[in-house]
Amino acid sequence: MSGKVFLIGAGPGNPELMTLRALRMLQDADVVVYDRLVSDEILAMHADGARLIPVGKAPKCHTVPQDRINEILLEEARAGHTVARLKGGDPMIFGRGSEEAAYLTAHGIAVEYAPGITAAQGASCSTGVPLTHRGLATSVQYVTGHRQADKVLDLDWKRLADPDTTLVVYMGVANIGQIAIGLMTENLPGSTPVLAVGKATTPDERRLVSRLDHLAADVREADLKAPTLFIIGKVVSLYAERPVDQILEQAHG
Ligand SMILES: C[S@@+](CC[C@H](N)C(=O)[O-])C[C@H]1O[C@@H](n2cnc3c(N)ncnc32)[C@H](O)[C@@H]1O
Repeated sequence: MSGKVFLIGAGPGNPELMTLRALRMLQDADVVVYDRLVSDEILAMHADGARLIPVGKAPKCHTVPQDRINEILLEEARAGHTVARLKGGDPMIFGRGSEEAAYLTAHGIAVEYAPGITAAQGASCSTGVPLTHRGLATSVQYVTGHRQADKVLDLDWKRLADPDTTLVVYMGVANIGQIAIGLMTENLPGSTPVLAVGKATTPDERRLVSRLDHLAADVREADLKAPTLFIIGKVVSLYAERPVDQILEQAHG
């Protein structure tokens, strides 16, 4: 009898941000296949005796190619195991979860999902900067700043350069200069505020406030490293240097 695969979003790093469903699935698994972005505290919550298989990917350094990850999941499920495929953030947002699920279902393996808090939401609530706000942003767009095999970024700059939308750039550190220029070329003002958040929701979280026309230089100077995301738009003007829970705590005693 074949086993099954749980495609689990582990959230942005803080273990408290995992869902109960994600935790239950992780604890039901006898094999855990996990990414680099999954924190040690989360990994430590696996069931006693579960086998751990790291398949982490670092930028420009694919430790285990995606095809091989698919095969590992299939082999483990075919061997009758319950497999937790543990991914950072949400498995269906820049996580290739849907590719893995398609491969497994095409081979007759059952897949179940646990959504995770994506990095944008984690960074937003950690810093107190909303992604939408009445009068500042009526919508939000998530975009990847990364292209396969160092190809040129060919994003739809016109669509992205909307002053009434918050833009969240994932995987953008290496190409942030190109991204800023693309947006400014389509008339997003150079004064547009930007908040870069590294390792959001973890004890090592880093924040950098900048503006579009200084962004590349500021990121270089701060030596920001992945995982970092960029929140670009007028909502960043609400940044108060303190996490929103501290502000609420103070307001309500
Ligand atoms: C391959 S994508 C995975 C996204 C993930 N599936 C999610 O929903 O958050 C990796 C990128 O997500 C962002 N990211 C993930 N975790 C993060 C964190 N804790 N802080 C800041 N950015 C993070 C970074 O932009 C990183 O380069």
